[in-house]
Amino acid sequence: MKAIALAVTIAAAPAAVAIATVSHTAEPFSPYVDEKGNITVPEDFRNWSFIGTWGVATDEEDQVGSKGFHNVYVRPETAAAFRSTGRFPDGAVVVKELLKAATDTMTTGEISYATETDGWFIMIKDTKGRFKGNPLWGDGWGWALFNADNRAKTVTEDYQADCLPCHVPAKQDDWIYVRGYPALKK
Ligand code: HEC
Repeated sequence: MKAIALAVTIAAAPAAVAIATVSHTAEPFSPYVDEKGNITVPEDFRNWSFIGTWGVATDEEDQVGSKGFHNVYVRPETAAAFRSTGRFPDGAVVVKELLKAATDTMTTGEISYATETDGWFIMIKDTKGRFKGNPLWGDGWGWALFNADNRAKTVTEDYQADCLPCHVPAKQDDWIYVRGYPALKK
């Protein structure tokens, strides 16, 4: 039906159709965001650029090492854009994967290593303020946390309460803790 309607319009008003066609076939804002602003965890982020990791020290008195790791990924083009401009481009996706860890004595010493996934924190750059009124979007980003058992539905209800206060120390760096990401340095 659409094709027929389009053909008719083409005959009637070629210029108008050119515009309509462009907007119709335009790339969606992000493959990980639907039209309402719902965010999902990218399937293939482990093939992206791994930009850095945070080791969470154990708080058990009789143990050493890390009890978890936070591994952070962006797409290669995002890392390249950040290195050249110092900014995250519109649509940039930052994935922080939460992993459990184990610590063993190995031939290299006392070593902690990542085991299972616990969940994902996602931020998606939005320079245009697209989702006004959606409590997951604001301050230039979409914000969402996912538990490991559901990549499609966030457990975050309101980024201003659930995310923002803890990111205030990184506000001057567009809310991102850039000091932990060697791969974003020039
Ligand atoms: C308890 C404080 C705290 C809360 C709550 C929190 N964050 Fe963070 N976040 C941090 C810190 C600190 C880092 C960097 C160090 C780390 O991972 O431990 C970080 C890192 C991140 C990163 C990796 C990029 C970066 O900023 O360095 C993402 C993505 C992220 N957080 C998203 C979120 C989202 C989305 C929420 C809300 C659902 C959220 N965070 C809530 C403290 C927090």
